[in-house]
Amino acid sequence: MSKLVVANWKMNKTQKEAKNFCKEFLKKIPNKTNNFVICPPATLIESVALGLKNRGAVGAQNVFYAQSGAFTGEISPLQVLDAGAIFCLVGHSERRNYLGETDEICAKKVKFATENGLKVIFCVGEQLEERGSVLTVLKRQLKALAGVDLKNVIIAYEPVWAIGTGKVATAKDITHAHSIIKQIVMKEFNANISCLYGGSVKASNAQEILGLNEVDGILVGGASLDAQEFAELVKIGSNL
Ligand code: PGA
Repeated sequence: MSKLVVANWKMNKTQKEAKNFCKEFLKKIPNKTNNFVICPPATLIESVALGLKNRGAVGAQNVFYAQSGAFTGEISPLQVLDAGAIFCLVGHSERRNYLGETDEICAKKVKFATENGLKVIFCVGEQLEERGSVLTVLKRQLKALAGVDLKNVIIAYEPVWAIGTGKVATAKDITHAHSIIKQIVMKEFNANISCLYGGSVKASNAQEILGLNEVDGILVGGASLDAQEFAELVKIGSNL
């Protein structure tokens, strides 16, 4: 069984760098390997979709809850799909913390994106000061899934204190949080859900994390920017 490996490039790479990445990356993975998604900045969705030559999939890092109109700076599900992506991230902690995305905004985005043909990777996770109340935080954030068709949703559990810091949650922390997430979604919405782990994942710790039963894949920031390292991660995910 293979597990999903998702790249979140955040605000990194130019057209040329993205094209080179795709070329290098495809050379380093076996022909049939398809267990990956790359989420580049919106300006690079089309280049990455072409560069991957129908392998894996492409995702946007953000999407708005309307198809068109006077929403300066936003992109719609229609535009994301048109550019060649089929996934989108919603609720990444950097958007919640730096751009003021609330639980209400996230809920509107998840609903609208899934109703308009995108698969959503919905990011949740506690801040450092909330470590003592993980259950409460996750329960609150997961309310955004009410009324959503969960066939088109994957959760990404990313403890905020582990993102870009080099601090990885322990296997026990990860197993605990993923079990809570799966239980809440079953209890509240009567659905099974896949759950990715994110936060300082790299080739050297991916085997242990991806090997956990409750972990269905990983969401990778920093280590996804390098074609060699991302290929290693995808290979680890494809051999489980
Ligand atoms: P990181 O980022 O792998 O650089 O910690 C993960 C994320 O923010 O999705």
